[in-house]
Amino acid sequence: MADRHNSEMPGDDTPKKLHRRDFVTGAVTVGAGLAAGATTAWNAWSQGVQPPTPMPTIPIECVPPVPFGQANAFGAPGSGPVRVRKSVFDLDASEVSRLRAAYAELQKITKRDDPRGWYRQGAVHCWYCSGAGDSLNGMEIHGGWWFLAWHRAYLYFHETILGSLIGDPSFALPYWDWDSCTDDPKDMTGRNRFPGEVYGFPTDPDPGSLFDTTRAVGKDDRIPPIYVGPSAMKPILDARVFTDFGGSGNEELPVFAQTANAPQQAGALEAGPHGLVHLWTTDPKNFSGLANMGMLAAAGFDPVFFAHHANIDRLWSVWAGKPQHANPSNERWLNQQPFYFYDQAQVWTGIVPAQMLDSEKSLSYRYQPPKWPPTAVVASATPEAAPAAIRVAQSQPLSVPLVALETTAQPRALPPQPTTLQIALPEAVKPRITALAAPASPATLVLRIDGVEIPADRGAVVQVFVNQPDIAAPAEGSQPGYVGSIVIVPSTGKRSLGLHPTITRNFGFPLSAEQAAGLAGKDNLSVTLVPVTGANRPPEVLRYRQVYLSSRQ
Ligand code: C2O
Repeated sequence: MADRHNSEMPGDDTPKKLHRRDFVTGAVTVGAGLAAGATTAWNAWSQGVQPPTPMPTIPIECVPPVPFGQANAFGAPGSGPVRVRKSVFDLDASEVSRLRAAYAELQKITKRDDPRGWYRQGAVHCWYCSGAGDSLNGMEIHGGWWFLAWHRAYLYFHETILGSLIGDPSFALPYWDWDSCTDDPKDMTGRNRFPGEVYGFPTDPDPGSLFDTTRAVGKDDRIPPIYVGPSAMKPILDARVFTDFGGSGNEELPVFAQTANAPQQAGALEAGPHGLVHLWTTDPKNFSGLANMGMLAAAGFDPVFFAHHANIDRLWSVWAGKPQHANPSNERWLNQQPFYFYDQAQVWTGIVPAQMLDSEKSLSYRYQPPKWPPTAVVASATPEAAPAAIRVAQSQPLSVPLVALETTAQPRALPPQPTTLQIALPEAVKPRITALAAPASPATLVLRIDGVEIPADRGAVVQVFVNQPDIAAPAEGSQPGYVGSIVIVPSTGKRSLGLHPTITRNFGFPLSAEQAAGLAGKDNLSVTLVPVTGANRPPEVLRYRQVYLSSRQ
């Protein structure tokens, strides 16, 4: 792997001015968007979406107020304090009041064109995700390799705006470490519960500025550990290449996916636990996805979104800090796609992923590890011994499929009942799989499900098992053979399908060492797809094109 250390990272030599014409979207430019003059009313794009209580009902319009002229290129913050992000469960009383005060200030800004206000801050996410009632949107940053970097930048600007509103440059967002739990669904002691003591429960007499009326989680709800427990997180955090962990653009995809009319692969962190927590927050029983958290276009309007994403961002740091792990070295990822945000001084600013890989150095924040389990000794807020080296490398491409269980030109409907795809492994393939699955093998086996399609106003959760054909119902706790879930969060609300009526995603599930070893010497391979959502949906709503097993060095 080619290592490239921070001193060689671009950044200082990034062009100082980014041109407005760089802000090109899938189909429209900002200029065109503004000309179209979006005025669709909030409640016309999704029933049930309500802004937090003190906010007036306002029209939703995702298009940011883009200034004429050029964007400023991001420059690393100067000498301010390093902001320490802690688990929401580890905050003390004064940190909780500070958080509430910061969001209260944000909500006080009601001027529509002030980019620091609650409405504009939430609309930033909408703009980068399918748009809202106006059907206008920027580039899509979900479902591929922009996901982690774009959200890291969004959190950075949001956090520094909040800090400036309360005059506290040490203000840091908390993270919601839903992965701090055990594999036992009956264990109620983990953090796979809603942090309502900070973000408010509906039954609270005064739920405060962090409350959102569109959540449906109660005190007794727990995220089933099959999605977020240690067994689920291990293969994700051990994924050897960025593509499998954090997603990829079309350069790194295998031939199959390129024909599937969808140019990217969603990373395992985004496509599984990330999406599930979105859906669970608004519908903890059925994961059907309702606004705000349960719909990407509206998710940024719920303050807990930022705690959820701080955890995603922390897990990216954890993954990148492990030996051998490296972020993409592809120039297109590192330097060629600026993301635009308003900073705390309301300056329109462009930032590229290369400027955020060493987040302590360039963005002045770091994570205090969770104090969980409560008995564990956790180093206090002092920095970790030595920050991990910043590595970048090209992901090794996926091998051609070792064996394909489904390949159709026309997408195939996934019925609401469990479906098992079976194949007898050809004699020529068996020894190859056995060798790849050996404990000493440097390869990872990756199960891919490509071309998964669903209408953009629907979500889906489908558990995926290898060689467990008898699974007849969704599991809650860890299960042998469970490789992950297909999780899709609705992009937008009903009646606002607009320019992007269908979501298409490609999924890759890196098998754990144990799961790979379980395939050695087998005569058959089966993949069982167990829909968790959609018992009442028409079967043709959720479709897929290819299911195959490949390997990656
Ligand atoms: Cu931009 Cu959790 O989504």
